[in-house]
Amino acid sequence: MKKEITLQDLNTERFINEKINEITDAVGDGIAINALSGGVDSSVVTMLGHRALGNRLRTVFIENGLMREGEAAYVEKLFGELGIKVEIVDARQEFLSALKGITDPEEKREAITGSFYRDVFGRIVRESEARFLLQGTILTDIDETVAGIKRQHNVFEQLGIDPQQAFGYRILEPLIQLRKDGVREVGRALGLPEKLFKRIPFPGPALAARVIGEATPERIETVRKANVIVEKLLEDSGAFQYMAILHEDRVTGMRDGKRDFGQQIEVRCWDSVDARTASPTRLSFDLLEKIASEIINSIPGIVSVTYNIATKPPSTIEAI
Ligand code: XMP
Repeated sequence: MKKEITLQDLNTERFINEKINEITDAVGDGIAINALSGGVDSSVVTMLGHRALGNRLRTVFIENGLMREGEAAYVEKLFGELGIKVEIVDARQEFLSALKGITDPEEKREAITGSFYRDVFGRIVRESEARFLLQGTILTDIDETVAGIKRQHNVFEQLGIDPQQAFGYRILEPLIQLRKDGVREVGRALGLPEKLFKRIPFPGPALAARVIGEATPERIETVRKANVIVEKLLEDSGAFQYMAILHEDRVTGMRDGKRDFGQQIEVRCWDSVDARTASPTRLSFDLLEKIASEIINSIPGIVSVTYNIATKPPSTIEAI
């Protein structure tokens, strides 16, 4: 495996040229499919792939029913402004049925991996006759998977899985030597708008990673609404990442003078450089109260809002 490039050692121009050459050499005069989720990593890969292959790169956004509010339209518009056409593929049914009845975190990740790579990309690749999938795996994804902490949805070869055999296509991962801080610098050098390369990280399993227990459409919708509020109110916090998590346990609350055995949302907000370690941001109590009251007043069934004050480790950034 190629060696890590730290932020200090990164020469963005040299890196970009090298990766463009590698992509061009691998794909030849064929076409490649590019998996864009709207996160920092896949946005940077999209720019690199587009520079290397132009319109021989087909960029797809998988609408899996687990994304943040308005995400497909946001990504389509932003990349449209950069001259990159994004195809939205509706795969909501496939993902939601794969997740049905599953509560275990690793089984959930496995269901999402299978839906993405075997079912949805498998189909797109077969139909388009592409032989390559370009994706934004970074070093931290690999570290945590190999260490057995979390099986990141996009890691295969390091687990002894050959994507060619398993799914029928090869995977190109130009960012595999970088961590988040390096990826952002490459994004800046590629001319991505700041709102994209500075975007907070978002996990591949999307909102399913923020629902403890079964990710039903209703529970995903609840956590989606809570994430809108948390992202809006913490936008100026300067934190590395922030999110809302829906818990499985219910607690007794009261609403309109009656007992309401309701749901709980946990808010997390992290200070971190590269996601390997993290500590909770010291948010003001006023801000925390504002978040809590907006969540409780606008999302039916939520009676408790907590703020996580543990560090990573032993916590991890996402809850599943
Ligand atoms: P954790 O939760 O492991 O997260 O501390 C570290 C960083 O990675 C993101 N994350 C993921 N990204 N697939 C991804 O693409 C995943 O399965 C996944 N799990 C976590 C997380 O948001 C954080 O920035």
